[in-house]
Amino acid sequence: PRSIWLSRHGESEFNLSGRIGGDANLSYRGRAYSEKLPELVKQSVGDIDLTVWTSTMKRTIQTAQYLPYRKLQWKALDELDAGVCDGLTYEEIEEAYPEDFRARDDDKYNYRYRGGESYRDVVIRLEPIIMEIERSENIMVVTHQAVIRCLYAYFMNVPQNRSPWMEIPLHTVIKLTPRAYSTQEERFKADI
Ligand code: G3H
Repeated sequence: PRSIWLSRHGESEFNLSGRIGGDANLSYRGRAYSEKLPELVKQSVGDIDLTVWTSTMKRTIQTAQYLPYRKLQWKALDELDAGVCDGLTYEEIEEAYPEDFRARDDDKYNYRYRGGESYRDVVIRLEPIIMEIERSENIMVVTHQAVIRCLYAYFMNVPQNRSPWMEIPLHTVIKLTPRAYSTQEERFKADI
């Protein structure tokens, strides 16, 4: 591929209340990001036609809604499944499942939520997506923080066990351009 564009969904109602998982709508700021995104993307894309991939969750579909390109939804791009912790805040998780909370901190890459997924599980379900990105051109992926961490680590050659700790900011488009020996990275931050 020539370049790959990555973005988290805009801020959601759950981001605002500190809850993980769920299928919330965008917040007011998140909607502002969705409105600014076409212009932000155009700055770095020019007149090339992109294909936009989202997850099946409302917050990524809403974020991409004004982008004037073909769109495709992938279940494999859905956020890391937090199982029984879906919809809780980190404080509530620590309170209800103290041992799990510590276990996750000790080995975040391998920790699998009860009834849910680990980062390792997400990396495995992303394999077909990564293969498809590699044989495509001009793909923009609008997805979730944990998923972007795994994709970013793959293309930037970061060891996957470090990916769960990487900060991927909201309201920022990351453009990755693979080169022979390394991948070039540019970031475009929305002014909201
Ligand atoms: O909302 C959940 C994040 O995307 C993933 O967060 O894996 O750092 O808990 P975490």
